[in-house]
Amino acid sequence: MAKKKEDKDSKKKVLVVGGSGQLGSALVSQLDEKFDVLGTYFFNKRSNLIKLDVTKKDKVFETIKQISPDIIILTSAFTHIDNCEIMKPLANDLNINGVKNVVKAAKSVKAKLVFISSYYVFNGKKEMYSERDKPDPLNHYGITKLQSEEEVSKLDEYMIVRSSKIFDIDDRTYVSSLMSSVKAKEYVNVASDQYTNPITANYLAEIIALLIEKNRKGIFHVGGKQYLSMYSFAKKIIRYFNLDTNYIKPIKCSKIRQIAKRPLKCGLKTDKVEKSLGITIKSFSTMMKDLKKRYKKK
Ligand SMILES: NC(=O)c1ccc[n+]([C@@H]2O[C@H](COP(=O)([O-])OP(=O)(O)OC[C@H]3O[C@@H](n4cnc5c(N)ncnc54)[C@H](OP(=O)(O)O)[C@@H]3O)[C@@H](O)[C@H]2O)c1
Repeated sequence: MAKKKEDKDSKKKVLVVGGSGQLGSALVSQLDEKFDVLGTYFFNKRSNLIKLDVTKKDKVFETIKQISPDIIILTSAFTHIDNCEIMKPLANDLNINGVKNVVKAAKSVKAKLVFISSYYVFNGKKEMYSERDKPDPLNHYGITKLQSEEEVSKLDEYMIVRSSKIFDIDDRTYVSSLMSSVKAKEYVNVASDQYTNPITANYLAEIIALLIEKNRKGIFHVGGKQYLSMYSFAKKIIRYFNLDTNYIKPIKCSKIRQIAKRPLKCGLKTDKVEKSLGITIKSFSTMMKDLKKRYKKK
């Protein structure tokens, strides 16, 4: 018991804001061994997490002061791309003002801030983007993520991790809804001209944990090994779970009724993160094998 307390005292304290989300929950479980981790939820209550609304400035300051973390990982966001376009004030409140609140609170307790950003800060005309490429968001979600990056980068101690498409097996995620539709014998139209290099939340969390352990700073791009269209991606997932790929149908983005514009050719180069950590990004099939193992355990 005394050993356990000693371990806890010597570990760095990490606060995962948005610990109930797809990436946040993977971070909370991955960081648990090496850090003293605490996470927050907003709407989806979890017994191991505390409630926090990032738009409530006083509460953000009070909570962060009370916890006094060494590191804050900010994963919370309004992530529904089309709804961000329709509900711009709400998107601004959560994705810009909420971030500003956390930035100021992090500064007040001298915590390092790790901010999760997105490939949607780019216009998708170039195929593979490096950290040195100039952002040019096409939609409101991307604009809010870029503005937040600017706020975060005013801090002395920060890291921005820009991720490509994140997927995993949590009930609320893309993979689960895709599989449910195919199991129900429903046809699913998937964009055949929107490309990126998707990564699982679990693997992304593993890489973020390494970046934190090694105390890296600045901007890092993190994505999967394989650059593929959303249509090929969806078919691969369905094939991995031995379901019928005939239910996945290709469609051009322009034919889908999407409110927000999407960057079409938008992969993230991972040379910087690989070199910095001395790793090689796992292949898509290794990532899928890991995902399948976790799916079986559920
Ligand atoms: N999904 C992708 O493909 C993708 C790609 C690139 C980058 N990103 C970025 O990666 C991060 C994580 O994405 P994700 O897919 O894991 O997101 P997600 O599953 O949609 O989770 C969003 C999180 O934000 C929390 N949240 C919502 N409103 C809040 C509020 N007012 N105050 C505090 N927390 C609030 C949610 O809490 P409750 O669920 O409890 O309400 C949830 O924990 C985001 O910053 C996103 O912009 C995502």
